[in-house]
Amino acid sequence: MNKKFYITTPIYYVNASPHIGHTYTTVAADILARYHRMIGDKTFFLTGTDEHGARIEEVAKKAGKELQEFTDEIAASFQFAWDELNISNDRFIRTSEEGHKKVVQKALQKMYDNGDIYLGKHEGLYCKGCEQYKNEKDLVEGKCPDHKTVPEKMSEESYMFKLSKYKDELLKKIKKDEFKILPVEKKNEVISFYENEGLNDISFSRKNVKWGVKLPWDESHTAYVWSDAFLNYLTGIGWKGEIPPTPFSKGGNMEFWPADAHLMSKDILRVHATIWPAMLLSLGLDLPKTLFIHGYFMIDGQKMSKSVGNVITPNDLVKKYGVDGARYLVASAAVFGNDGDIGWGKFDEKYNADLANGIGNLLARSIALTEKLREAAVELQNKGENFQFSIFNFQTIFNDQILISKNWVDYNVLLDLIQIDKALEIIKLQVKFLDNYITATKPWELIKNKDEKSGGVMYNILERIRHIALMVYPFMPDTAEKIWESLGLNVQEEMSKKFDEAIKWGGLPVDTKVKKGEALFPRLEK
Ligand code: MSP
Repeated sequence: MNKKFYITTPIYYVNASPHIGHTYTTVAADILARYHRMIGDKTFFLTGTDEHGARIEEVAKKAGKELQEFTDEIAASFQFAWDELNISNDRFIRTSEEGHKKVVQKALQKMYDNGDIYLGKHEGLYCKGCEQYKNEKDLVEGKCPDHKTVPEKMSEESYMFKLSKYKDELLKKIKKDEFKILPVEKKNEVISFYENEGLNDISFSRKNVKWGVKLPWDESHTAYVWSDAFLNYLTGIGWKGEIPPTPFSKGGNMEFWPADAHLMSKDILRVHATIWPAMLLSLGLDLPKTLFIHGYFMIDGQKMSKSVGNVITPNDLVKKYGVDGARYLVASAAVFGNDGDIGWGKFDEKYNADLANGIGNLLARSIALTEKLREAAVELQNKGENFQFSIFNFQTIFNDQILISKNWVDYNVLLDLIQIDKALEIIKLQVKFLDNYITATKPWELIKNKDEKSGGVMYNILERIRHIALMVYPFMPDTAEKIWESLGLNVQEEMSKKFDEAIKWGGLPVDTKVKKGEALFPRLEK
């Protein structure tokens, strides 16, 4: 604990507005960033937009807009979506920023000077959708399987990057997990790619693409859009000091490098496992610690696309389920690392089961019971009787330290392993545990019968809910705050507690004044 933690999402292309696929990666990164801040790590979370290249040029032209105007609009739609979803990124990097472009030039110049970039000629089939040259054997009926378009034959003078030079070193680092690729099946896929196909030098510049970064030593060439894009992971933390850097450092320093986790899906794994680390080796920098490859979403069995008309946007989700409902449903939609089939029907069901009937109902029920207990206590007091069973009676508190510690260990281990959905299961289990505990102890009867145990039982319930709120915080920050408020706690105080203290049993003051709030998750109407 108390380390540094640097996490990134891919920078998204600005050819279209954000959809649930981008939302998945970004919410997951946010959960991890918030978790690491919560445990006291010095955390930096970077996301942004990838704005250069042939594809964007084309789409902007089609929309009849100036390039900068077009990219400004779409970049803003990403920023808006992330604000709406309560995403806590420390910086939003755009590759069209002057500072970023300057750093790209410095980096490529360095690679050119050390002999890793040379003038050559490149021939091949180029897919604009992927912004990559494709091998014949990657095509399906002559088309790019991802974009369903026929790639263009291209032959042009191009600066080439000596990717081949780094093959052995990279393969060794991948095998030894010095550059870790997770889940392990994805690591194996990468290893077999290295072993069967090897690495060829690749074209690193384009002559007929103008929208991008000029090569500093030959301005008739524009940097390959992926080389420009990858460097965001460095410019975004202030590398080379051209960009106002992190909130913690004065400029240009590398306290956050190497990245602890680059999150992405399988579509961009190969480039991240080859070109990017090779660039870093060429620049003499450490490799990221982990690439985590999460699954790809299909919508009710179909690929999401405008033409099918099944695109789900983050705003659609927020409108229907609220901010935290949207975050929860996205985060729990699939095993993190496996592909997922999602859809509105499943979301509705899960919202009602886990949120409205789950955690929302648990809180409402527990607060109502506590109020009943208080009323009973007041009634007895008015009669001049002693209220042994009140929540203030610390004597009867059952100490749940051992059980809760085990839950925390599981939760922490799972989030360390980036098993987001499984960490959510720990929360669900606890909600269930409390539901069962309430059914078994029947606090309403204890209260009615003026049983001494009622105070202790209620304390157990409320204190465990306090722990649930803390576990919920990275996933649904507003919900955690609402729960703390209902428990009569001060949000600022809860958030500034040291983590090790906060996870101990007994943090809820025995004289706390609970408050009934709005329903956390109103049930969806049919
Ligand atoms: N601009 C490049 C990345 C450069 S990073 C140096 C790019 N952009 S993208 O807009 O196409 O984003 C791809 C990423 O968006 C995926 O890797 C994944 O993180 C997310 N997703 C997009 N669609 C998705 C699904 N249908 N399902 C899950 N995630 C998806 O590639």
